[in-house]
Amino acid sequence: MTDISSLSMPALRGPVPLSHLFLHDFVRDGHTAVDATCGNGHDTLLLARLVGADGSVFGFDIQQQALIETGRRVAEAKLSNRVTLLLAGHENLAVHVTGPVQVVLFNLGYCPGGDRSIMTRPETTAIALEQALHLLAPGGIVLVTVYPGHNGGDEEGLAVENWAAGLDSRTCYSWRMGQTNVKPGAPYLLLVQKIL
Ligand SMILES: C[S@@+](CC[C@H](N)C(=O)[O-])C[C@H]1O[C@@H](n2cnc3c(N)ncnc32)[C@H](O)[C@@H]1O
Repeated sequence: MTDISSLSMPALRGPVPLSHLFLHDFVRDGHTAVDATCGNGHDTLLLARLVGADGSVFGFDIQQQALIETGRRVAEAKLSNRVTLLLAGHENLAVHVTGPVQVVLFNLGYCPGGDRSIMTRPETTAIALEQALHLLAPGGIVLVTVYPGHNGGDEEGLAVENWAAGLDSRTCYSWRMGQTNVKPGAPYLLLVQKIL
């Protein structure tokens, strides 16, 4: 079998690489972007690259360790001056960020390799999503990677889907994207684009 990474093609294994394709398309030089769940900092680093020297990224996490890891990653890439890391829950997004922002990215659940009891929760995620939509520039997107397979993930996935499905189609386009040749409960991606 050909290794597609040797062909410089993105390997679309699950929703995270799919979310990155959208980031490449939607985030441009000078934009403001938010990583609502920094975790190990991979997504924050990509956003920091995409916003360019005149852009900025706000990264949220409730775990100090996640921010340390994210800070180390962006410092290594010499991009710290574009990134503001906040030890705060994303349900306080609007307290720390004034719009307009181009992208708000959520990668729900727990931090891989970290404490699995610390995870995103439906109540706070719902508050954060509403604030994210409010802060978006027209044309901007909210991306959410949902993990129904873990403890509490089902309930959170349902809350996020209900929120996205209930949005007025005159003001937002709302999408659900999941890989089909995977087991039930596999992670998937939700995208909401604000049009007005
Ligand atoms: C799946 S990880 C994120 C992965 C990350 N984007 C990356 O690139 O490695 C989810 C993160 O959400 C964080 N989290 C949980 N509840 C949160 C909240 N209310 N606000 C912000 N972050 C939260 C967890 O601490 C965890 O680090």
